[in-house]
Amino acid sequence: MKKKILIIFGTRPEAIKVFPVINELNKNKKYFDLKICLTGQHKQMLNQVLDFFEIKPHININVMRKNQNLEELTSNIITKISSVIKKIKPDLVLVHGDTTSSFAASIASFYNKVKVAHIEAGLRTNNLYSPWPEEINRSLISKIAQIHFAPTLIAKKNLEIEGINRSKIIVTGNTVIDSLFITSNKIFKLNSIKKRLEKKFSYIKKNKRMILVTGHRRENFGKDFENIFKALKYVAERNKEIIIIYPVHLNPKVLLPAKKILGKVKNIKLIKPLDYISFIYLMHRSYLIITDSGGIQEEAPSLKIPVLVTRKNSERPEALKIGSAKLVGTNSKIIIKNIFKLLNNKREYKKMIIYNNPYGNGKAAKKIVNFLKKKNF
Ligand code: UD1
Ligand code: UDP
Repeated sequence: MKKKILIIFGTRPEAIKVFPVINELNKNKKYFDLKICLTGQHKQMLNQVLDFFEIKPHININVMRKNQNLEELTSNIITKISSVIKKIKPDLVLVHGDTTSSFAASIASFYNKVKVAHIEAGLRTNNLYSPWPEEINRSLISKIAQIHFAPTLIAKKNLEIEGINRSKIIVTGNTVIDSLFITSNKIFKLNSIKKRLEKKFSYIKKNKRMILVTGHRRENFGKDFENIFKALKYVAERNKEIIIIYPVHLNPKVLLPAKKILGKVKNIKLIKPLDYISFIYLMHRSYLIITDSGGIQEEAPSLKIPVLVTRKNSERPEALKIGSAKLVGTNSKIIIKNIFKLLNNKREYKKMIIYNNPYGNGKAAKKIVNFLKKKNF
């Protein structure tokens, strides 16, 4: 009998990271009956990824509201996903990472006595409020899940420390690297795509150094984002020969202050969130990346681009350890000092270019699906 798997997700990074797993499950249709359900936590930012990877969801419970708060989002997802689970009656629910979609889908599965498998399990900062609410989301999913796909050995260790039986943990690498390889291949093997992207970004002159920026963490809302933006403004105004490209997250709590502080700076370009292939192309073209994103901390070391992380801690210590990423927090002076160091000191810059990637080899999804093929659940 085929195993019925329901995969549930709702945000941009989840779609990017579950795509390779969907792909592998679809290659194994004689083993699996796959249903894809979106929570719709994101809308435009998710659609960009669905279109690019041609993911065709079966169900969408459409929960996104402008400026949504966590209580409303969580309760809406739990109620609506419970109805979906009752109707589909899956043998297993697959969730990814640490979003509210993943947590709420896990608890809804638990209430309906359906087993959960967790992709990207075991990331921890051990600080409940940073990232907020992701640290508690992923910790609670680990309590609920019965299969844990940990991306790295450090993630596996974190789970073991919390008492999870090692027989239930499988170290797979991170599926983000699978997606990154698939997408980079498309860019550099298909001349037509490369040409289209070159044209789209022809305003970035080849002789200019480009800094790529993203930011969206809830714990950085308010003063911390203001500090980060003021640092970017300071650096741009004193280095007219560089260009800063910032695809701004659609959350109004990020978009409004970004426009207010950075909107008029000549060599800072605020643009809409980019489709995945465009973003990967820009990462390849960057001199430096400044971000609070989780996924980008994993992708950048593969592309040998240094990353300054505008957070106080990270659940991804691997890149920090090998030196390809550095935590710079949210203090303007410290951010400015670190950007200047990488712009002006070649030796410091070279130190951050590391030739191995701790997050995977592009085969994580295969490993996950091979395990699911053999496992009885
Ligand atoms: C969410 C996840 C975070 C993940 C991030 C990736 C939670 C609590 N947070 O944060 O873990 O790192 O996604 O980007 O699960 N919006 C739109 N269109 C979109 C998406 C968002 O307009 O396509 C706006 C809406 O006003 C929405 C707001 O952004 O209310 C916040 O979205 P939300 O999903 O709650 O939080 P993120 O900050 O995106
Ligand atoms: N990304 C994208 N377009 C953008 C910015 C980021 O496609 O304009 C991709 C990026 O390559 C990475 C993922 O989105 O794979 C990261 O998403 P985000 O930073 O929103 O979430 P996080 O990883 O912090 O959960």
